[in-house]
Amino acid sequence: MPTLTNDPNWYRQAVVYQIYPRSFADANGDGLGDLAGITSRVDHLATLGVDAVWLSPFYPSALADGGYDVDDYRNVDPRLGTLDDFDALVAALHERGIRVIVDIVPNHSGSGHVWFQDALRAGKGSPERDRYIFRDGLGDDQSKPPAEWTASFGGPAWEPVGDGQFYLHMFDVAQPDWNWDNPEVIDDFHTTLRFWSDRGVDGFRVDVANLMVKDLSEPLPTMAEMGSPNSIMGCDRLNDLPGVHDIYRGWREVFNEYDPPRMAVAEAWVPSERRPAYARPDELGQAFNFDLLLAPWDAAAFRQIAESNLALADQSGASTTWVLSNHDIVRHVTRYGLPIGAGEQEGMPGTAAAKAYVLSDGAAPEFDEELGRRRAAAGTMLILALPGSSYLYQGEELGLKEVIEIADDQRQDPTFFRSPGVDKGRDGCRVPLPWTPTGTSYGFGVGDQVAPAHLPQPEWFADFAVSVQDEDPSSMLNLYRKALGLRRGLLGDETVTFHDSGEGVLHVERPGGWHSVTNFTQAAADVPEVLAGAEVLLSSSSDEVSGEVPANTTVWFRA
Ligand code: NOJ
Repeated sequence: MPTLTNDPNWYRQAVVYQIYPRSFADANGDGLGDLAGITSRVDHLATLGVDAVWLSPFYPSALADGGYDVDDYRNVDPRLGTLDDFDALVAALHERGIRVIVDIVPNHSGSGHVWFQDALRAGKGSPERDRYIFRDGLGDDQSKPPAEWTASFGGPAWEPVGDGQFYLHMFDVAQPDWNWDNPEVIDDFHTTLRFWSDRGVDGFRVDVANLMVKDLSEPLPTMAEMGSPNSIMGCDRLNDLPGVHDIYRGWREVFNEYDPPRMAVAEAWVPSERRPAYARPDELGQAFNFDLLLAPWDAAAFRQIAESNLALADQSGASTTWVLSNHDIVRHVTRYGLPIGAGEQEGMPGTAAAKAYVLSDGAAPEFDEELGRRRAAAGTMLILALPGSSYLYQGEELGLKEVIEIADDQRQDPTFFRSPGVDKGRDGCRVPLPWTPTGTSYGFGVGDQVAPAHLPQPEWFADFAVSVQDEDPSSMLNLYRKALGLRRGLLGDETVTFHDSGEGVLHVERPGGWHSVTNFTQAAADVPEVLAGAEVLLSSSSDEVSGEVPANTTVWFRA
């Protein structure tokens, strides 16, 4: 039985598997995934070979934003289980040598949080209101918001509460922002960090880690003055202010009360040069690098991102992270199957094209599914070969593409409702996983009477079910298993050499003679000369590797 060590650096090159708990496995067959469901599937995670799981929120929530509207930070949503179920899950994972990271959402709570309800009741000027961000409305009758700001999910960011005051919510109306100038808020989050750490969690993923501190001095800026006409997210009075780092220095003291210290990773969509600050050793220790989510399938772009992020991570002594998919972004099989260059706008190549594709219900631009899956496999093997942590998203090991067949009346994501409808939202990457090729919810739910999954699963899921891929040696699932297994044996220190091995090719060398060569082009490329006679360890495609690296393929060699 694997035992977990007290190595404080365990996460620096870990493979972390993100679980979206409502959509992973449903042990009671009610259509919604639950903690017992995850426990029932820990063998899938162990066989896959991941080092850790990150659980997206499973806390009590009205589900206005898929659980990122937390009503109680120190409990489990009754629809997902109990604290005992949580303890059982942690024990089952730890027994298999898999660590546990939980999501912490400090910018906002859910509007059902007892402190927000207290604030509404207690009224203007009360200490209860001071835990959130309330301001008087403008105009004689105070009916106008303090500022005409558009929230991140669309719609107004200031919401009236009926007594002349408004509260700020940078996201959904059901996600009131905390006031981090209030010491009670600071203390309460320390309590939450200790609560989960005491229950054995190994780390925290910090939601929108850059937003908590705001400069709300009067006059408040107009949207035009903020410099980002569509949303307040980019405003420098609300984003990435120095005070957030004081908060994290306090958190680090809490993390260091434990052995090993709890790790943390910041979700901070800030300009890349601002990222290292979040990853400083006396703060969170690691910060997500999302650059690949926005990058086209292009060797030069990938190399530039790889090199610059390794250098950025060095600045703080952290290790970097690699992410190709998560619960907020169109799945990478879909992004890579769209024409390169399509949708290159707003600095978001790939992602913009993918959003346009989803919005058109799959009509345009043209999508080449096989190509997308082939590149996705190559991309995954490439990131696994780079120094740093790879964060994988549930379902990518099955090669799932984005589900676009979701009727508007079945959508759940607030970005769809508040845009309104201009953005289809993120439901397409959150559809419950297929475990078997048949059954009401493709094995997602078990029990005598299984309800349909809470987001509709398309018929093509049958071909991608875990049990189907399990039997097929050439499946994506078995490729992931082989890659993760090999990586574990190959992994050395965090050094890397980039070789110039031709245009369209990204060739990296790791300690111990481990080479990874990715051919981003449409034609086979010569195996680099330094690898003549080297052993082929694994290829992301089934095409033969003899003197050539096939098109859109990553091959690992041992020289
Ligand atoms: C980032 C999370 O990843 C996303 O899913 C959520 O909607 C926002 N933060 C707000 O909490």
